Amino acid sequence: MTTKSNIRLCPSILNADHSRLMQEIARVAPYSDLLHLDIMDDIFVPNKTFSLEESRSIISDSPIPVDAHLMVADPDIQGPTYADLGCASVTFHYEASANPSQTISLIRAAGARVGLAIKPGTPYSAIEKFLPDINMLLVMTVEPGFGGQAFMPEMMSKVASARSAIDLFTGEKPWIQVDGGISPTTIEQAALSGADTFVAGSAVFKASDAKAVLLGLRELASNTRA
Ligand code: DX5
Ligand code: ZN
Repeated sequence: MTTKSNIRLCPSILNADHSRLMQEIARVAPYSDLLHLDIMDDIFVPNKTFSLEESRSIISDSPIPVDAHLMVADPDIQGPTYADLGCASVTFHYEASANPSQTISLIRAAGARVGLAIKPGTPYSAIEKFLPDINMLLVMTVEPGFGGQAFMPEMMSKVASARSAIDLFTGEKPWIQVDGGISPTTIEQAALSGADTFVAGSAVFKASDAKAVLLGLRELASNTRA
Protein backbone atom coordinates (compact mmCIF):
# COMPACT_ATOMS: atom_id res chain seq x y z
CA MET A 1 0.00 0.00 0.00
CA THR A 2 1.43 3.38 -0.94
CA THR A 3 0.71 6.01 1.64
CA LYS A 4 1.26 9.71 1.36
CA SER A 5 2.01 10.02 5.02
CA ASN A 6 4.05 8.16 7.54
CA ILE A 7 1.26 6.32 9.29
CA ARG A 8 0.31 2.66 9.21
CA LEU A 9 -3.03 0.90 9.63
CA CYS A 10 -3.09 -2.65 10.99
CA PRO A 11 -6.53 -4.27 11.04
CA SER A 12 -6.85 -6.92 13.75
CA ILE A 13 -8.60 -10.10 12.59
CA LEU A 14 -9.46 -11.09 16.17
CA ASN A 15 -13.09 -10.14 15.66
CA ALA A 16 -13.32 -10.84 11.94
CA ASP A 17 -15.58 -13.66 10.73
CA HIS A 18 -13.29 -16.67 11.28
CA SER A 19 -15.43 -18.92 9.11
CA ARG A 20 -14.34 -16.87 6.08
CA LEU A 21 -11.05 -15.44 7.25
CA MET A 22 -9.33 -15.17 3.88
CA GLN A 23 -12.26 -13.21 2.41
CA GLU A 24 -12.20 -10.98 5.47
CA ILE A 25 -8.48 -10.35 5.00
CA ALA A 26 -9.00 -9.70 1.29
CA ARG A 27 -11.59 -7.02 1.96
CA VAL A 28 -9.20 -4.96 4.12
CA ALA A 29 -5.80 -5.69 2.58
CA PRO A 30 -5.86 -3.07 -0.22
CA TYR A 31 -6.38 -0.27 2.31
CA SER A 32 -4.06 -1.54 5.04
CA ASP A 33 -0.34 -1.73 5.72
CA LEU A 34 -0.02 -4.75 7.98
CA LEU A 35 -2.34 -7.52 9.13
CA HIS A 36 -2.49 -7.59 12.95
CA LEU A 37 -2.53 -11.17 14.25
CA ASP A 38 -3.39 -11.48 17.96
CA ILE A 39 -1.97 -14.62 19.57
CA MET A 40 -3.43 -15.46 23.00
CA ASP A 41 -2.67 -18.50 25.16
CA ASP A 42 -5.34 -18.35 27.90
CA ILE A 43 -2.51 -17.86 30.42
CA PHE A 44 -1.13 -14.36 29.88
CA VAL A 45 -4.66 -13.26 28.96
CA PRO A 46 -8.00 -15.01 29.63
CA ASN A 47 -8.65 -15.87 26.00
CA LYS A 48 -7.21 -18.19 23.39
CA THR A 49 -6.78 -17.55 19.67
CA PHE A 50 -4.92 -18.82 16.64
CA SER A 51 -2.82 -21.97 17.03
CA LEU A 52 0.61 -22.23 15.51
CA GLU A 53 -0.81 -24.15 12.53
CA GLU A 54 -3.59 -21.61 11.95
CA SER A 55 -1.03 -18.83 12.23
CA ARG A 56 1.26 -20.54 9.74
CA SER A 57 -1.45 -20.65 7.11
CA ILE A 58 -2.59 -17.06 7.72
CA ILE A 59 1.00 -15.81 7.48
CA SER A 60 1.66 -17.71 4.28
CA ASP A 61 -1.64 -16.72 2.61
CA SER A 62 -1.91 -13.08 3.70
CA PRO A 63 -1.49 -10.66 0.80
CA ILE A 64 0.03 -8.09 3.17
CA PRO A 65 2.79 -8.45 5.79
CA VAL A 66 1.77 -9.84 9.17
CA ASP A 67 2.21 -7.98 12.45
CA ALA A 68 1.99 -10.60 15.21
CA HIS A 69 1.01 -9.46 18.72
CA LEU A 70 1.93 -12.19 21.17
CA MET A 71 -0.17 -12.14 24.34
CA VAL A 72 1.45 -15.29 25.69
CA ALA A 73 3.25 -16.30 28.85
CA ASP A 74 6.33 -17.62 27.04
CA PRO A 75 7.26 -14.93 24.49
CA ASP A 76 10.97 -15.71 24.88
CA ILE A 77 10.20 -19.00 23.09
CA GLN A 78 7.27 -18.02 20.88
CA GLY A 79 8.74 -14.70 19.70
CA PRO A 80 11.52 -16.27 17.65
CA THR A 81 9.11 -19.00 16.48
CA TYR A 82 6.71 -16.42 15.02
CA ALA A 83 9.61 -14.61 13.39
CA ASP A 84 10.67 -17.92 11.82
CA LEU A 85 7.13 -18.39 10.50
CA GLY A 86 7.63 -15.31 8.33
CA CYS A 87 5.94 -12.49 10.24
CA ALA A 88 7.16 -9.07 9.17
CA SER A 89 6.92 -7.90 12.75
CA VAL A 90 6.70 -9.73 16.07
CA THR A 91 5.59 -7.88 19.20
CA PHE A 92 5.84 -9.41 22.66
CA HIS A 93 4.82 -8.21 26.10
CA TYR A 94 7.46 -6.83 28.42
CA GLU A 95 5.48 -8.16 31.39
CA ALA A 96 5.78 -11.78 30.22
CA SER A 97 9.44 -11.83 29.24
CA ALA A 98 12.23 -13.11 31.47
CA ASN A 99 14.87 -11.62 29.18
CA PRO A 100 13.57 -8.88 26.86
CA SER A 101 17.02 -8.00 25.46
CA GLN A 102 17.70 -11.56 24.42
CA THR A 103 14.24 -12.00 22.88
CA ILE A 104 14.64 -8.74 20.96
CA SER A 105 17.93 -10.07 19.53
CA LEU A 106 16.50 -13.49 18.67
CA ILE A 107 13.46 -12.07 16.87
CA ARG A 108 15.65 -9.72 14.89
CA ALA A 109 18.11 -12.50 14.05
CA ALA A 110 15.19 -14.49 12.64
CA GLY A 111 14.49 -11.64 10.23
CA ALA A 112 11.49 -9.81 11.70
CA ARG A 113 10.99 -6.32 13.02
CA VAL A 114 10.70 -6.33 16.81
CA GLY A 115 7.92 -4.77 18.86
CA LEU A 116 7.72 -4.45 22.64
CA ALA A 117 4.26 -4.08 24.20
CA ILE A 118 3.11 -2.72 27.55
CA LYS A 119 -0.21 -3.30 29.27
CA PRO A 120 -2.16 -0.38 30.75
CA GLY A 121 -0.70 -0.97 34.23
CA THR A 122 2.92 -0.89 33.07
CA PRO A 123 4.62 2.50 33.13
CA TYR A 124 6.55 3.90 30.20
CA SER A 125 9.63 4.17 32.44
CA ALA A 126 9.83 0.35 32.57
CA ILE A 127 10.63 0.04 28.87
CA GLU A 128 12.29 3.34 28.00
CA LYS A 129 15.74 1.76 28.00
CA PHE A 130 14.74 -0.70 25.28
CA LEU A 131 13.62 1.96 22.76
CA PRO A 132 16.95 2.13 20.90
CA ASP A 133 16.84 -1.65 20.36
CA ILE A 134 13.30 -2.11 19.05
CA ASN A 135 11.43 -1.23 15.87
CA MET A 136 8.10 -0.54 17.51
CA LEU A 137 6.64 0.25 20.93
CA LEU A 138 3.06 -0.97 21.42
CA VAL A 139 1.15 1.01 24.03
CA MET A 140 -1.99 -0.99 24.82
CA THR A 141 -5.04 1.26 25.03
CA VAL A 142 -7.22 -1.51 26.55
CA GLU A 143 -6.45 -4.47 28.79
CA PRO A 144 -5.23 -7.13 26.36
CA GLY A 145 -7.48 -10.13 25.76
CA PHE A 146 -10.57 -9.00 23.90
CA GLY A 147 -11.70 -6.78 21.07
CA GLY A 148 -14.48 -4.25 21.34
CA GLN A 149 -13.39 -2.55 24.58
CA ALA A 150 -13.33 1.19 25.21
CA PHE A 151 -10.18 3.21 24.39
CA MET A 152 -8.30 4.35 27.52
CA PRO A 153 -7.33 8.01 26.97
CA GLU A 154 -5.17 7.97 30.09
CA MET A 155 -2.63 5.88 28.13
CA MET A 156 -1.84 8.89 25.93
CA SER A 157 0.72 10.26 28.37
CA LYS A 158 2.82 7.13 27.71
CA VAL A 159 2.54 7.69 23.97
CA ALA A 160 3.55 11.33 24.38
CA SER A 161 6.57 10.41 26.54
CA ALA A 162 7.71 7.86 23.96
CA ARG A 163 7.19 10.34 21.13
CA SER A 164 9.33 12.99 22.87
CA ALA A 165 12.14 10.50 23.40
CA ILE A 166 11.96 8.99 19.90
CA ASP A 167 11.90 12.36 18.18
CA LEU A 168 15.40 12.96 19.55
CA PHE A 169 16.74 9.77 17.90
CA THR A 170 19.07 10.53 15.03
CA GLY A 171 18.93 7.10 13.40
CA GLU A 172 15.92 4.89 12.66
CA LYS A 173 12.96 5.86 14.78
CA PRO A 174 10.83 3.09 16.28
CA TRP A 175 7.15 3.22 15.40
CA ILE A 176 4.61 3.84 18.15
CA GLN A 177 1.60 1.56 17.87
CA VAL A 178 -1.67 1.82 19.77
CA ASP A 179 -4.04 -1.13 20.09
CA GLY A 180 -7.52 -1.19 21.59
CA GLY A 181 -10.60 0.90 20.95
CA ILE A 182 -9.14 2.69 17.92
CA SER A 183 -11.96 4.10 15.80
CA PRO A 184 -12.85 7.25 13.88
CA THR A 185 -13.64 8.91 17.21
CA THR A 186 -10.36 8.03 18.97
CA ILE A 187 -7.67 7.88 16.29
CA GLU A 188 -7.03 11.63 16.18
CA GLN A 189 -6.33 11.73 19.91
CA ALA A 190 -3.84 8.87 19.54
CA ALA A 191 -2.17 10.47 16.52
CA LEU A 192 -1.96 13.84 18.23
CA SER A 193 -0.23 12.20 21.20
CA GLY A 194 2.37 10.77 18.83
CA ALA A 195 1.19 7.34 17.69
CA ASP A 196 1.90 6.53 14.04
CA THR A 197 0.80 2.88 13.79
CA PHE A 198 -2.80 1.97 14.53
CA VAL A 199 -4.49 -1.36 15.22
CA ALA A 200 -8.24 -1.42 14.67
CA GLY A 201 -10.38 -4.51 15.11
CA SER A 202 -14.09 -3.99 15.63
CA ALA A 203 -14.15 -0.55 14.05
CA VAL A 204 -13.08 -2.17 10.77
CA PHE A 205 -14.56 -5.67 10.81
CA LYS A 206 -17.92 -4.82 12.34
CA ALA A 207 -18.44 -2.14 9.68
CA SER A 208 -20.40 -2.97 6.54
CA ASP A 209 -18.01 -0.80 4.53
CA ALA A 210 -14.53 -1.63 5.84
CA LYS A 211 -12.91 0.27 2.96
CA ALA A 212 -14.65 3.51 3.94
CA VAL A 213 -13.63 3.08 7.59
CA LEU A 214 -9.99 2.40 6.69
CA LEU A 215 -9.80 5.34 4.28
CA GLY A 216 -11.40 7.55 6.94
CA LEU A 217 -9.00 6.38 9.65
CA ARG A 218 -6.02 7.02 7.37
CA GLU A 219 -7.23 10.49 6.52
CA LEU A 220 -7.85 11.42 10.16
CA ALA A 221 -4.48 10.10 11.33
CA SER A 222 -2.55 11.57 8.39
CA ASN A 223 -4.07 15.00 8.83
CA THR A 224 -3.30 14.95 12.53
CA ARG A 225 0.29 13.77 12.11
CA ALA A 226 1.06 16.02 9.10
C1 DX5 B 1 -6.83 -6.99 22.24
C2 DX5 B 1 -6.10 -7.11 20.95
C3 DX5 B 1 -6.51 -6.16 19.92
C4 DX5 B 1 -7.97 -6.22 19.51
C5 DX5 B 1 -8.37 -4.81 19.23
O1 DX5 B 1 -6.14 -7.59 23.26
O2 DX5 B 1 -4.72 -6.95 21.13
O3 DX5 B 1 -5.67 -6.19 18.77
O4 DX5 B 1 -8.24 -7.01 18.41
O5 DX5 B 1 -9.74 -4.79 19.00
P1 DX5 B 1 -10.57 -3.42 19.01
O6 DX5 B 1 -10.03 -2.55 17.93
O7 DX5 B 1 -11.96 -3.88 18.78
O8 DX5 B 1 -10.38 -2.79 20.37
ZN1 ZN C 1 -3.45 -6.74 19.36
